[in-house]
Amino acid sequence: MYNSKIIGLGYYLPENKVTNADLSKIMDTNDAWIQERTGIKERRWIKKGTEDTSAVMGAKAAKIAIERANLTKDDIDFLVFATLSPDYFFPGCGVQVQDMLEMSTIGAIDIRNQCSGFIYAMSTADQFIKTGMYKNILVIGAEYHSNGLDKTTRGRGVSVIFGDGAGACVLTRTEDNTKGILSSHLHSEGKYAEKLMVKSPSIKHWVPEIIASKGEDISYFPYMDGQFVFKNAVTRFSQVILEGLEKNNLKTSDIDMLIPHQANLRISQFVQRKFGLSDDQVFNNIMKYGNTTAASIIIALTEAWEQQKIKENNLVVLAAFGSGFTWGSVIIRW
Ligand code: ACO
Repeated sequence: MYNSKIIGLGYYLPENKVTNADLSKIMDTNDAWIQERTGIKERRWIKKGTEDTSAVMGAKAAKIAIERANLTKDDIDFLVFATLSPDYFFPGCGVQVQDMLEMSTIGAIDIRNQCSGFIYAMSTADQFIKTGMYKNILVIGAEYHSNGLDKTTRGRGVSVIFGDGAGACVLTRTEDNTKGILSSHLHSEGKYAEKLMVKSPSIKHWVPEIIASKGEDISYFPYMDGQFVFKNAVTRFSQVILEGLEKNNLKTSDIDMLIPHQANLRISQFVQRKFGLSDDQVFNNIMKYGNTTAASIIIALTEAWEQQKIKENNLVVLAAFGSGFTWGSVIIRW
């Protein structure tokens, strides 16, 4: 069996910055409330009329990751795309990237695991590399949330949290089994699916029914039971990080860098305190970008690496929790 290791990282964010003050002009909210509850100061929202979408941003991030891996698009054997905000109901964004990057007819799959999407995507890619089926896999996480949010006071409990963006990495095969992804850990609890969801349009409840409600039916906007999600998130984050460490006979004090999914700064701070980690051992950027769901971990990992906060041989832990509920962790020896 092989291990897989990251050899290229990239991200792309739309230029348009939306501050908390900007939001307070379109809904009844304010900077103090948003910062106190979530830590977010601003986020990027795609400007309507620009070319950016989840697939387009994903392709832009992917180009950077491939270049930094010193590979070309022709060296990529397979691609995995995580998103909850695809350009089309079907097909997925993976096939769009295959076309946008003018790749050969390699396989492409989409992963629909929301905030845990990137963890699930990395774990999926890792399995293909471990067995020797593929050598170089492109893993992308991208979200275009802003066009699907309720940007009125009615939707303020959700819409202030989310931002747009994309990140990507290239995983490659290594024969050194002390390096790269040491293990990944995936979980789900579908009984809580309706605690954080976009219910419609679905095949069960299709567009004509929504139109017929004449604006009464707003089930196409995200719904979140915020406090319930928060309580589950802090528990599951902690459990799945410990599960990953135990599997590798490691302790929390061995963590050099924890990259939590950027759900809410308060969730990250809770986990940091619980494990007694210093500010240098945890990377957060939700303040600048909001919650970019499947893109958040890979954008944060790329920024941490660019800022030279991740060094050779470091123990890097990625962890996520989100809609499904789904949660997971990836333990990496850099
Ligand atoms: N601005 C001002 N006031 C607001 C806003 C806003 N944007 N949103 C809600 N409020 C008001 C509410 O209407 C309510 O007013 P009321 O007391 O008069 O009824 C009050 O603020 C408190 O609302 P709550 O929803 O109870 O606020 P809470 O303290 O739970 O914070 C939050 C909400 C930030 C969403 C919190 O529950 C949370 O962080 N949950 C975790 C969920 C999360 O992180 N989700 C991210 C996506 S999922 C994931 O990635 C894991």
